[in-house]
Amino acid sequence: MRYASVTTHYHHEEVIVEHESESEPENYMSIMAAAVGGLCFGNVTALAPMVRIGTLPMRLLALDYGADIVYCEELIDIKMVQCKRLVNEELDTVDFVAPDDRVMFRTCERERDRVVFQMGTADPDRALAVAQLVEKDVAAIDVNMGCPKEYSTKGGMGAALLSDPDKIEAILRKLVQGVSKPVTCKIRILPSMEDTISLVRRIEKTGVAAIAVHGRMKEERPRHPLHCDYIQAAAGAVDIPVIANGGSLDLVKSFSDVESFRGATGASGVMLARAAMWNPSVFRRQGLLPVEEVMEDYLKYAVRYDNHAFNTKYCLCQMLRDKVESVIGKQVQTAQTLAEICAAYGMQAFYEEVQVLLRSKRERRPPETPLTQGGVTTMALRFHRREYPPQITPKMFLLEWSRKEKLQQPHYHTVERPQDRLFQSTVTIDNKQYRSTLWEKSKKAAEQAAAVVCLRVLRLPEGRRGEEDSGLVGKRKRAATAAALLNGSTAAAAAAEEVAPREEEEQEEEEEEANKKLHLSDRDAETAVTNGNRHKLHTPL
Ligand SMILES: Cc1cc2nc3c(=O)[nH]c(=O)nc-3n(C[C@H](O)[C@H](O)[C@H](O)COP(=O)(O)O)c2cc1C
Repeated sequence: MRYASVTTHYHHEEVIVEHESESEPENYMSIMAAAVGGLCFGNVTALAPMVRIGTLPMRLLALDYGADIVYCEELIDIKMVQCKRLVNEELDTVDFVAPDDRVMFRTCERERDRVVFQMGTADPDRALAVAQLVEKDVAAIDVNMGCPKEYSTKGGMGAALLSDPDKIEAILRKLVQGVSKPVTCKIRILPSMEDTISLVRRIEKTGVAAIAVHGRMKEERPRHPLHCDYIQAAAGAVDIPVIANGGSLDLVKSFSDVESFRGATGASGVMLARAAMWNPSVFRRQGLLPVEEVMEDYLKYAVRYDNHAFNTKYCLCQMLRDKVESVIGKQVQTAQTLAEICAAYGMQAFYEEVQVLLRSKRERRPPETPLTQGGVTTMALRFHRREYPPQITPKMFLLEWSRKEKLQQPHYHTVERPQDRLFQSTVTIDNKQYRSTLWEKSKKAAEQAAAVVCLRVLRLPEGRRGEEDSGLVGKRKRAATAAALLNGSTAAAAAAEEVAPREEEEQEEEEEEANKKLHLSDRDAETAVTNGNRHKLHTPL
């Protein structure tokens, strides 16, 4: 995937101010805050922030069905500040990518005026840094003040903020002053109505554009009854829009219930989490669609935006609910790739169609430019096992080429970066050095990446699928390797290839996925994570 930084142009829409303004400067500030960004929070129906659920496909689907505003999953400030903003030309998205190449937040033009970026934070400066990083690409910035889980509260984030109003104030004021988009927060109610009222009033004075109120106390679980009276008291106490949340279990089953929930809470907006997670067509004015149809719509977005397979599975499993053990449910659970998930839904043709489109886009791009500095030529390339046939690696091709040219064998020098234990390798051949700027999880992957850079710079064949057979690595050799592997003789295969023939990189990728899965299943709702998506750096042909 190739990136370029782009300048984003904004148009400021007219703002509809729902509440009468008083002469207090704080109130004026909140109206101004809303005015700056153009997003109106009055009378909205919103997709609630949900870890793992609120990734791009779900947000787009919710918008299609009629949601006015969509919150992303909570993303933690410490992780986000390390991200780079990259324009993904293949997918037409903007990706915020962590140093390990993981996509933490993916967004696109379609949702730019509707998406609220929710962060987990306990630090005003870091919160501001993150907000400034994403503000051009989102409609508003939200701070999570409701997550009751220990991993969040022990860092002073989430619901821990509810008992530290000074911190709340410091974070929100800093954000309101420092970004050009509306700032909001999502809270839970406090044990007493009076305290809840004082809190929302204090929050309003920071200049935020709206407050989402989940009508449960931090000790209460999602199954506990909702305190609509607290939300009503909060809504009556402030002039800015209050968005009522917490009604999915028994109050809102379809869109026709939204109005009564709004009425019961006296709030100007309604925010839905679980009801939307189970069936996002809850936002549809005309009524719910069969979940089977909704899952297909969801999967189309997941494929179109290359959503991570495990994240896609997770969302589909939430929609399947009690059907998760059905035939299709089991197929989804065992699927490892988007292609396999599509097969479970009989959508292989759609999957292939999208891949063809993406491939043709990739191939139209200008080639990546190598950079030579200090005698080393670098490119940002990775070795993707799946792009090569079994038993074929770029290292093999480079070795064969050096033999053919009667050069010394390529020499690899690999270093490990202590802070994250990632590897980078430099290959020397013909007295020249080549290296990928990207760091890898294993020494072997780093060496392969260096070989890819060298082959690409020298315009040599590297053995990728679809590449014309160069004859560099002879058919006999490939056959010998394959036969040795078939017979289970890894040693013989290694001897045949001189390059570790086991697909270690692939195994590592699989292990990594498995770990990710394990990690994901350990996490509960309201946790702060990424969608686990890998940011692929597709290499030009
Ligand atoms: C799977 C899941 C993930 C959630 N993640 C977040 C989150 O990232 N940020 C947040 O503020 N609340 C999060 N919540 C809480 C919801 O936004 C919402 O407050 C809660 O589910 C009550 O609303 P409901 O009755 O509509 O489900 C999550 C809830 C669920 C079910």
